[in-house]
Amino acid sequence: MKLCIIGSGHVGLVSGACFAEIGHRVICVDSDREKIEKLSNGVIPIYEPGLEELVEKGRNSGRLLFTAELSKAVRDSDVIFVAVGTPPMPDGKADLSYVEAVCREISEVMDSYKIIVEKSTVPVETGEWVKQTLQRNIHSVDFDVVSNPEFLREGTAIKDFMEPDRIVIGVESERAEKIMREIYAPLSSPIVITDIKSAEIIKHAGNSFLALKISYINAIATICELAKADVEKVAAGIGLDKRIGASFLKAGIGYGGSCFPKDISAFIDIAGELGYDFELLKAVENINKVQREKIVKKLRDVLWTLNNKTVGILGLSFKPDTDDMREAPSIYIVNELQKEGVSIRAYDPAAIENAKRIWNGITYCKNAYEAAEGCHAIMILTEWREFQELDLEKVKKQMIQPVVIDGRNIYEPVKMKKLGFTYVSIGR
Ligand code: UGA
Repeated sequence: MKLCIIGSGHVGLVSGACFAEIGHRVICVDSDREKIEKLSNGVIPIYEPGLEELVEKGRNSGRLLFTAELSKAVRDSDVIFVAVGTPPMPDGKADLSYVEAVCREISEVMDSYKIIVEKSTVPVETGEWVKQTLQRNIHSVDFDVVSNPEFLREGTAIKDFMEPDRIVIGVESERAEKIMREIYAPLSSPIVITDIKSAEIIKHAGNSFLALKISYINAIATICELAKADVEKVAAGIGLDKRIGASFLKAGIGYGGSCFPKDISAFIDIAGELGYDFELLKAVENINKVQREKIVKKLRDVLWTLNNKTVGILGLSFKPDTDDMREAPSIYIVNELQKEGVSIRAYDPAAIENAKRIWNGITYCKNAYEAAEGCHAIMILTEWREFQELDLEKVKKQMIQPVVIDGRNIYEPVKMKKLGFTYVSIGR
């Protein structure tokens, strides 16, 4: 099949490389010529394990191409995936102007039947707008609109694409359904066929449910702290119930990233527009915000005053195995500490370059031991595997006083006490 993917961000690029891997010819389009130039030369602008190799393989096979010329790519393809950004606006709404602009451009150059697929995360009813936008310009050729949301996690996106729990296709014609099924035929995952609006809601409802699980366990963590119980044990105890499931029950400093915060506020917004006050999700957002504030309070409770103290930050990215700092809890936490006069020594295995674009007043370190040097406390903000494997005796020797505030519950409280640390974590 001949596919074209408009937008070469995380979703567009991973999907493009994976579609090429399963046998399709794919043209990835982006208006950023510099990015296209780099991609054409095998330079990958994002950190995603395995992506560089896959892009290289696709380029060598001749099935993966990159261009900034949308019109030719659209004409040369049967199916056009729209994977441009839908960033949040100040009021929480998703900004759909890039989606609209791309649809207008597609409609101006289409000269034969095409399927236009919404791949970007969009609020319900966007499909209707896409259809209307296309109809305004297209008169002589037929087209179909499809919603095919993605469920890729950063860090494991290739596996998520190749072995998805399900593939969701929101579609209105048999012709388009047959073609979409053909595209995904090499993957053996279950396919859920729905109408377009239901597919759009599946994406928002799925991400919101996962965020809800996180805020739920964080609320339980607070109760555990008050009652002197252990949230890790509670999570294990409820997670074994198959109806609940063990995943996304990790208490901590809350969710971040380019998806959950944006999608939850966009879902609250569209629900409101449709006439439903989504109080449940508003509580999810609020609990998430409180988790960040609480970790700063925990630090204050141990150090008393923060002015002129030195704190080592281990982990800046919003989760491990990515350099992505969008909406990372670390941003709020470091900003708060800076406001209170704390000197920050930070280390992250991948996100330092991105962090440098946010702060220049902090000391960036080459490893965790260097970050611990001369510190009154260290804070774990991302659960990178290498932090779990640290020589903690060595860490302790670097510090002025042995205080660890663990925002991701990566160490055992009993072991930390034995090692002589003042150890504070979440819900334990
Ligand atoms: C999320 C979804 O998991 C994907 O299915 C979806 O496709 C993607 O959003 C998207 O909409 O594009 P992602 O943002 O990459 O993927 O990250 P997750 O692994 O879901 O983690 C999100 C946040 O939740 C992270 O900050 C993580 O630290 C936090 N989290 C996760 C917890 O605090 N506790 C948990 O138990 C799980």
